[in-house]
Amino acid sequence: MDADLESIVARARQQIASVAEEAQLADAKAAFLGKAGALTGLMKSLGSLVGEAKARRGQALNHAKQQVEALLNQRGADLRQAQLEQKLAAERIDVTLPGRGIGTGGLHPITLTIARIEEIFRSIGFDVADGPEIEQDFYNFTALNMPSDHPARSMHDTFYVAAPVVEGQRAEPLVLRTHTSPMQIRYARRNPPPIKVIAPGKTYRVDSDATHSPMFHQFEGMWIDEDVSFADLKSVYADFLHQFFERDDIEVRFRSSYFPFTEPSAEIDMRFSEGPLRGRWLEVSGSGQVHPNVVRNIGLDPERYIGFAFGSGVERLAMLRYGVDDLRLFFENDLRFLRQFA
Ligand code: DAH
Repeated sequence: MDADLESIVARARQQIASVAEEAQLADAKAAFLGKAGALTGLMKSLGSLVGEAKARRGQALNHAKQQVEALLNQRGADLRQAQLEQKLAAERIDVTLPGRGIGTGGLHPITLTIARIEEIFRSIGFDVADGPEIEQDFYNFTALNMPSDHPARSMHDTFYVAAPVVEGQRAEPLVLRTHTSPMQIRYARRNPPPIKVIAPGKTYRVDSDATHSPMFHQFEGMWIDEDVSFADLKSVYADFLHQFFERDDIEVRFRSSYFPFTEPSAEIDMRFSEGPLRGRWLEVSGSGQVHPNVVRNIGLDPERYIGFAFGSGVERLAMLRYGVDDLRLFFENDLRFLRQFA
């Protein structure tokens, strides 16, 4: 081969060998085979030769070009291979390590508590009912003996929902139910007496601190028949508490109170005689004999039908059962807390 070509090929070999990354190969290629490359320049000068000399020079140039191309290809392949090996080494996985496993999860303590409450009441013949969380003002208040000007409404700091406009008229106001009591009306209007039901679920009030959350759970209870008395309420609720806490050292008392939908009304308090909360009266439920107006609102004759109702806080009972002192823990979704119940 011509000496000038040999020296170009030698330079190419050196430069290509020194390229460390595949992307830089393009520069090396341009330096020899590109528009202004060393070999390209010589190709152009072929035009000034003729005959045998032109053919020989052409062949030699082609040969040199092929050599440079082969060097580029080889270097490219080498670099890709090196890169692959490096990647494989870096991403090496140890298939002998034990798997990470997938947790099976568990039920939330409030869900567990509601399930427990339902089981206990079912065992003594109560039905379990469910109802809407976005409730009509009528069911949440009016039907429960709280007409729109009733002062007891202000005991409930309510989330109102914009009422839909139907045929140009604003429909009845909607609220996020402030208690589960509207289920008394909904259930009793659909089911003939004897009525024996609990209705657990979410309730909402504008309230937030260590013992109040804007969303919380209650369960409503109601038993209506021809001869249900306050004594039945006492025994049903006291029995429930004993079963719920699985303890015998529980005293129950009824403290006179006021609710528009019951008359007479009472708060139910309980106290343990052992353990850290021993001796302290703890309020666990509102209750009372269903008000004659409410009995009428569900379509029954209050002269014939009588019964009791109660509404209890689920979080309250869960806190007492599990010894939790801040209600917010239930809703922060910290797995370290929740796992303890799984
Ligand atoms: N609904 C009441 C509340 O949320 C609780 C309550 C009290 C429910 C007395 C009742 C009842 O059914 O009879 O504060």
